[in-house]
Amino acid sequence: MKKPTLCVGLVCVDVVAETEGFPVEDTDQRIPDLSYRRGGNASNSSTVLAQLGMKSEFLGTLTNSMQLDFIREDFSKHCVTIEQCPIFPDCEFSTSIVIISTINGTQTILHHPKNLPELDIQHFSNLDLTNYSWIHFEGRSTNIDNIKQMIRTVRERLEYMKISVEIEKARPVLDELLPLADVVFVSKEYAYFSGFRTMKEAVEGFLDVTKPGTIVVCAWGSEGAAAGQNGTVVSQSACPPVQIVDTLGAGDTFNAAFIYSQVNLWDWEKGLEFACQIAGNKIGQKGFLGIGRFKHPVEALLKSQQQRR
Ligand code: FRU
Repeated sequence: MKKPTLCVGLVCVDVVAETEGFPVEDTDQRIPDLSYRRGGNASNSSTVLAQLGMKSEFLGTLTNSMQLDFIREDFSKHCVTIEQCPIFPDCEFSTSIVIISTINGTQTILHHPKNLPELDIQHFSNLDLTNYSWIHFEGRSTNIDNIKQMIRTVRERLEYMKISVEIEKARPVLDELLPLADVVFVSKEYAYFSGFRTMKEAVEGFLDVTKPGTIVVCAWGSEGAAAGQNGTVVSQSACPPVQIVDTLGAGDTFNAAFIYSQVNLWDWEKGLEFACQIAGNKIGQKGFLGIGRFKHPVEALLKSQQQRR
C-alpha cells in the first residue's frame, strides 16, 4: 500500500440545515433535516482520500473544546489519522452555518473563524515528511506566510515529494501560491475574480503563471471541469446524479479524487474524468461515508470508454 497522503488546512464544525428552497428572511419554519458535521476543505479532502482507500492523514489545529470528541470520532469513523495535530487549550473551532436547499442543491455558507490559531511552521517542521506519498495544502489567506514556509520546507527536505495546493477564495494574496505546487486546484470563484470567464480560459491563464510541468485543475460546477499541463488543456463535462442530495464538500471531493488519481500515477486526463465522476456521485449522497464504493465502477467505466476510443 502507498504511504499516506497528508492534507494540511482547516477542520471546522458545520451546522447543516436542509431546507426546501432558500428560507425567507424573518420567518420561522420547520426544516427536513439538521446535522452537525466535521467540515473544512482539507478535512473533507482527507476524508474522501481515506474513503477511496488511501491511508490518509489530516494536519490542522484542534482545540480541547466540547466539540473535540465529536471531531476526533468523526475523523476516526472515516479512517483519517490526526496524531500530529496540535491541540490548543481554551479556544473554539471555526464554525459554519450551512443552508442546503434540497430543491436546487444550492449551498449557502456563513462561516465564522472563531479564535483557534492556524497551523504554523513550527508544528509542520516536526513532521517526518518521508512518511507521506503526497502533501496537499488548503490555500488560506489568513495563514499564507506559514503555508509558503511549509511548502519551502517540503521542497528543501524532499525534492521528489508531490505537492498540491487549493486556491478557492477570491483573495489576491493567494496568487502567491500559484508558482509553488505540482498540482494547483483553482476554483470558479477565484478564476472569475482573476478575470477569466470560462474554465478553459482559466486553466490556460493560470498555466502561464505556474512553473513548467504544473497541472492546473479548475472545477466549474454543473459545467464540469478543465485541466491542463504544458500548454495542453482538456475539459470534461459534469456527471450529475439522478437526484441531487448534498452538494457540501463536492469541490473537496473533486480535489481528493484528482489527488488519488495522481498518487496512483494515472495520466491527468483520466484523473480529471475520475474526479468529475466521483464528485458527481458524492452529490447524490449525504456526507462522504462509503463514497469509495463508486471507485471500482467508475474505474471500469473509464476503462471501457478508453477501449472504445
Ligand atoms: C466545504 C467547506 C465546509 C466549511 C466551509 C469552509 O467546502 O469546507 O465544510 O464549512 O467549506 O469554507
